[in-house]
Amino acid sequence: MTKLSVGVLGATGIVGQRLVSMLADHPWFNLQLVTASEKSVGKKYGEAVNWVIEKPLPSKYYDMVVEPTNVDKILEYGVDIVFSALPSSIAPSIEVELARKGVVVVSNASPMRMDEDIPLLNPEVNADHVELVEVQRSKRGWSGFIVKVPNCTTAILTLPLKPLMDEYGVGKVIVSTMQSLSGAGLRGVPSMLILDNIIPFIEGEEWKVENESRKILGRLINHRVKYADIGVTASCHRVMVLEGHLESVFVELHRMPSSLKEVSRVLSTFKTNKIKNLNLPSAPSKPIIVRTEKDRPQPRLDRMEGNGMSVVVGRIRADNVVNGVKFIVLGHNTIRGAAGTAVLIAELLVAKKLV
Ligand SMILES: NC(=O)c1ccc[n+]([C@@H]2O[C@H](COP(=O)([O-])OP(=O)(O)OC[C@H]3O[C@@H](n4cnc5c(N)ncnc54)[C@H](OP(=O)(O)O)[C@@H]3O)[C@@H](O)[C@H]2O)c1
Repeated sequence: MTKLSVGVLGATGIVGQRLVSMLADHPWFNLQLVTASEKSVGKKYGEAVNWVIEKPLPSKYYDMVVEPTNVDKILEYGVDIVFSALPSSIAPSIEVELARKGVVVVSNASPMRMDEDIPLLNPEVNADHVELVEVQRSKRGWSGFIVKVPNCTTAILTLPLKPLMDEYGVGKVIVSTMQSLSGAGLRGVPSMLILDNIIPFIEGEEWKVENESRKILGRLINHRVKYADIGVTASCHRVMVLEGHLESVFVELHRMPSSLKEVSRVLSTFKTNKIKNLNLPSAPSKPIIVRTEKDRPQPRLDRMEGNGMSVVVGRIRADNVVNGVKFIVLGHNTIRGAAGTAVLIAELLVAKKLV
């Protein structure tokens, strides 16, 4: 198969770096374009980027010239797909203009995630929502389109919620998070604020978790998403961990499981039929891994499961207050919660012949 050419916007940031790293040996995609802000434009990528992820910068990209994040410049490259890792303040205008002009945009930025004709995809959970692409194109008259990656915490949370919802029915969900520093971007939280500390507030995060979850877990009826009839309430906190969001989750179930072992089986055997048989290269063989040790999952030990694409669930317990179960889920925020899911979405678009 001839590889499709792709670009990364905001390629010097933390999500951009993950994208560059994941695209380096990708069997379907060939990275041809990297963009960033004015301060990086014209420099070699290897000199402009402050590389912070564990795998070395792929040497073939070191000399690539960083281009401006400018629609005309991006169009000159004629790329098939653009991955956007731009700040939310500038993402919408650029992404919309690109889609209008025929480019397929897979975006990590939060604006437009809740627009009713924008697919918000966590492929194992709701790959069928990709159908909204056609709704979007006919409504907006664009030749390209925009697909959004969910908020990082939400991408991690909706994976275990989906099989629980299908098997038992879910009512209320209460989630309290411990979110890593990389979630705030490369220049994220100043060390003076976070060392020896926990910050019990993340701007806009709780609203995203509470609302995006209901869209992602919703059903597509007559080309519209009917939001899942669940109530999600979240409390989000920044902790001094580099990567990996840990979430403490309490779930009300409509039908009680016969045992906790059964819950564990339902989660660990979750093999979505949403992307079955598509052989998407970045899909983990097990999207949910269940650990039985009393002190797992832990960010440092478990975040790279499934190359960072699996979430790890542990401490599954019955809960008589919410009438259901409680557990911990951990996921890699810049992989499963951003770049990895973006690449998986792009693979889905290719498999569905939308690119
Ligand atoms: N970090 C996460 O875990 C995570 C998870 C999910 C979603 N997201 C979303 O993904 C996006 C990127 O996040 P991030 O954490 O990677 O942020 P980041 O580390 O701050 O990176 C931002 C990137 O955007 C570029 N940029 C900044 N201002 C620009 C401008 N005016 N014009 C063009 N490019 C500009 C930066 O280039 P320079 O280096 O040249 O400044 C850099 O490449 C955000 O929308 C964020 O909300 C992040």
